[in-house]
Amino acid sequence: MQVLGLDIGGTGIKGAPVDTQTGELIGERFRILTPQPSTPEAVLTTATEIVRHFDWQGAVGCGFPSVVQNGIVRTAANIDQSWIDININQRLGQQLARSVRVINDADAAGLAEMRFGAGKGHQGVVLLVTLGTGIGTALFANGQLVSNTELGHLEIRGKDAEDRAADSVRLRKELSWDKWAKRVDEYLHTIQRLLWPDLIIIGGGASKEADKFLPKLTVKCQVVPAQLLNQAGIVGAALAGAVDIPPPTPKKPAPKPRSGKA
Ligand code: BGC
Repeated sequence: MQVLGLDIGGTGIKGAPVDTQTGELIGERFRILTPQPSTPEAVLTTATEIVRHFDWQGAVGCGFPSVVQNGIVRTAANIDQSWIDININQRLGQQLARSVRVINDADAAGLAEMRFGAGKGHQGVVLLVTLGTGIGTALFANGQLVSNTELGHLEIRGKDAEDRAADSVRLRKELSWDKWAKRVDEYLHTIQRLLWPDLIIIGGGASKEADKFLPKLTVKCQVVPAQLLNQAGIVGAALAGAVDIPPPTPKKPAPKPRSGKA
């Protein structure tokens, strides 16, 4: 199946058509900077421009940098606050005149890495950590995604972890690889202490330069770079869009109270 994957991030909005059987991009990736302020209207207009760029009439899946619960945006760390409580499935769907499935961006990247990349075939507990504008996480137990984990917001030295160790902080503060690696290491030690994943996959913008900081890490968990690098978000978004959107499940009638002795 061919699905257009849209990866909406705090810094850029990217898209490309993807072959969901192979995980390969079947067109060149197209990227536009995330409009600022990143209000729903502005972001939806930019996302639509990307779909138009490919003249794409088929299915679309999307990753979004927030907790997305059944299509509803619940948090807004790196995107305008006015997104909170918006049904993004519905809004993007209306805009594109088709049904669209939106999931958390790190979850999308995780799905792609588990299917086609560094997590392929891995059982046990796998955590994908995206180091980009923020820190996103995707947790897998025996290949099954536990959606919407927000372990990028663990508190470290009284601060939100992503405000210390995201790749955007390295760039903004012009931290050396050494200094930044220490911050990432401290973050991963916290993860290790709480979760003990069997495998940690590092994705996001920083994964392109993994050789500059991965060798400096001291955690005992196995840490590897994402294999799909920064494209994992697009590929995973396409995977999310390839799944039929299930109709709402009717509520089961409450069980009748039992009569007689138990
Ligand atoms: C958000 C996450 C998101 C991550 C990466 C964090 O600030 O809370 O939902 O996955 O950034 O974009």
